[in-house]
Amino acid sequence: MIRFVEGQEAKRKITREILEALPEWFEVESSREQYIRESADEPMWAFYDGDRAVGFLCLKETGRDTVELAVTGVLKECHRKGIGRRLFAAARDYASRKGYSFIQVKTVRYGVYEDYDRTNEFYRSLGFRELEVIEDLWDEDNPCQIYVMSLKSAVGTIATRHSYRGEFSSDSVPESDLEIIARAGIDAPSGCNKQTTDMIVVNDPAVLGDIKAVLDPPVAQTAPAMIVVLTRRINAYRDRCFAIQDYSAAIENMLLAIVELGYQSCWYEGHITDEDRICDKIASILGVPDEYDVVCILPVGKALDDFHAPSKKAFAERVRFNRFGQEG
Ligand SMILES: Cc1cc2nc3c(=O)[nH]c(=O)nc-3n(C[C@H](O)[C@H](O)[C@H](O)COP(=O)(O)O)c2cc1C
Repeated sequence: MIRFVEGQEAKRKITREILEALPEWFEVESSREQYIRESADEPMWAFYDGDRAVGFLCLKETGRDTVELAVTGVLKECHRKGIGRRLFAAARDYASRKGYSFIQVKTVRYGVYEDYDRTNEFYRSLGFRELEVIEDLWDEDNPCQIYVMSLKSAVGTIATRHSYRGEFSSDSVPESDLEIIARAGIDAPSGCNKQTTDMIVVNDPAVLGDIKAVLDPPVAQTAPAMIVVLTRRINAYRDRCFAIQDYSAAIENMLLAIVELGYQSCWYEGHITDEDRICDKIASILGVPDEYDVVCILPVGKALDDFHAPSKKAFAERVRFNRFGQEG
């Protein structure tokens, strides 16, 4: 499991144990000691096998908008288990929530050492892109490749979106941000462009209070704003109605816009469309006409609590190339 590491002593112990076990990458004592020293003051995550840290990753701010993946290491017997990838996901989430726009990482340029070629491949597979090679930043035998990743790209935002069910800050959400979020919803594709999804943006505390009062069991009670998603069952052609697909695309677009703007949310649909039909109570509070159904609420606000990515099945369990099964 991954934990955010607290305390300088704990950080120094983990970096020392792991870096000293990886001489292929951290052979030079002076730079290894520098990593150990500097990591003690920076945000760090470790992957634990029982009580033992077997991998860690440390970030460092390098500018107002940019954070650097300063150093990472995973014990060799634990390579190829997705540990580095999971550590990176935790760090990327953190950097994104702190409002950084870019993350950079430096390594020895591809084609110089086999071990570093694997490091290059790892960073590329995480989504890093080549920024620049600086030949003499370290020394002439170790040309420095700088990789960069935008934390505000669609792909980056998709990777950092998770359902948030914690407390929200009471800060109101500017109406201009709520407009951007709702616009992302109406920009979504819809079957035959029937545009069957509408939204009601709720930021009036009195109306919000009325909605929160009917949410049973209570959810999103501290959210300073909400988007209520409405759908109309209009057929796209013949008897084909794509209303569910339409509002799903609109909701996902809005969730991504919410995260990109630095807020958090959760797709609350099951909760309000069960037998107790909370959705109908919300429709009545908002004066929604009969031909529309309320299908989902999206709270919007700044997160006060930490949250973690839920575990998802391995890529290869869900994605195949060209055929479902083995040939023959
Ligand atoms: C159609 C749909 C309905 C959902 N309804 C609820 C809900 O009522 N309550 C809730 O807490 N989460 C709800 N979720 C959120 C899922 O639980 C969540 O997406 C899933 O656990 C994966 O986690 P992630 O969003 O962090 O990737 C819903 C998601 C979808 C797509």
